Amino acid sequence: MRNFGVVLEEMANVKPTLIQSYPMIGGDGPHSYLRNSTYQKAAIESVRAKIKETILAKLGLKTTKLDLNTYKIADFGCSVGSNTLDVIQNIIETLKLKHQQEETKGNNHEHLEFHVFFNDQTDNDFNTLFKTLPRYHLDREIFACGVPGSFYRRLFPRNSLHIGHTSNTLVWLSTTPEDVCNRNSQAWNKNSILCTNLVEQVTEAYRNQFKKDMRAFIAARAQELVPGGLMIILGLCLPDGVQMIRTWKGVVYDMIRDCLIDMAKSGIIKEEKVESFKLPIYFPQFSELKEVIEQNGCFSIEVMEEVKHPMEDMPFTDGFIISMFRAMLHGFIEEHFGGGVVDELFDRFGKKSTRDRSIYSRASQKDMQYFILLKKKIDRS
Ligand SMILES: C[S@@+](CC[C@H](N)C(=O)[O-])C[C@H]1O[C@@H](n2cnc3c(N)ncnc32)[C@H](O)[C@@H]1O
Repeated sequence: MRNFGVVLEEMANVKPTLIQSYPMIGGDGPHSYLRNSTYQKAAIESVRAKIKETILAKLGLKTTKLDLNTYKIADFGCSVGSNTLDVIQNIIETLKLKHQQEETKGNNHEHLEFHVFFNDQTDNDFNTLFKTLPRYHLDREIFACGVPGSFYRRLFPRNSLHIGHTSNTLVWLSTTPEDVCNRNSQAWNKNSILCTNLVEQVTEAYRNQFKKDMRAFIAARAQELVPGGLMIILGLCLPDGVQMIRTWKGVVYDMIRDCLIDMAKSGIIKEEKVESFKLPIYFPQFSELKEVIEQNGCFSIEVMEEVKHPMEDMPFTDGFIISMFRAMLHGFIEEHFGGGVVDELFDRFGKKSTRDRSIYSRASQKDMQYFILLKKKIDRS
């Protein structure tokens, strides 16, 4: 057995990880996430029926001790706009249906109430989110609140949530792995702005960070959910063996890098700044994701499967790609390069991809959308 004093000393020496924050564009303007998240909305829509079906099948009202008839539901990484609201509405409608079905079996349930928690980083535009909320407060049935902070840490008291949900969030790491930014490291990511899977040391650095973050996410939720509670996860990964660089999103990130290099050559931004621009984004391989989830042991994996993204085969217009990536990356780009760079960058991106449509023919492989439903084991509290 290890000496407790040594463990404490080791813990004291671990540098606290600074969790970076890169919110989507807030407000409801032309470039906002609210107006430019059709791709993410389509993903949510594609699992609407599956969420309903799995909650009805897997949630045990007795085991989750819903004797007060108040459900606590959290959306982790909610951002701004109707996506999170659609998710919550679907979950609430399903819970009502579940109770109706139980009532017909002879159980008597009083009026249900829902306590809904919208979580995102502190920089998220919660003001716009709350302005666009349906008028929950009028029906005195749904009570909403915001929970600012990173979902890679604990955000709720132990055993307090009945249903957790997250969509389109977990490719965002808590931070860019240090080594990929270090010129002297073998994992120095010289030629790309994210993990392309071409250099093993770079992939390993991103993979390790992903595993560490995902473990933290699952461990936090394992404490927060009540025994029998459900965690729904919708996200993107790569099928085993697929390289990010061969997917259309990989091609887009490469083009963004090329445009940044062109801007440095024109003297608009500094070359060193381009060199140090590395995104904290990682698309795990499906097996990496599975391994981390299985390791935790507090959950049973009720569903873990691929779900076709409805827009997977759609030929995207340049305009669509630009608005989608701009809404997601704006904050991160501005923070790194300073204001005024984003317009020029995406203007160049548009011109480049119009000039050379064949660039997308490099995308010979597909990423993968997954749907996971976890149930907290009854003997864990
Ligand atoms: C692409 S948006 C997805 C928004 C929404 N869930 C959807 O499906 O449309 C990703 C969101 O995850 C949030 N996010 C990323 N890392 C986070 C973290 N560590 N803690 C909380 N939120 C985070 C971002 O701020 C952003 O709002």
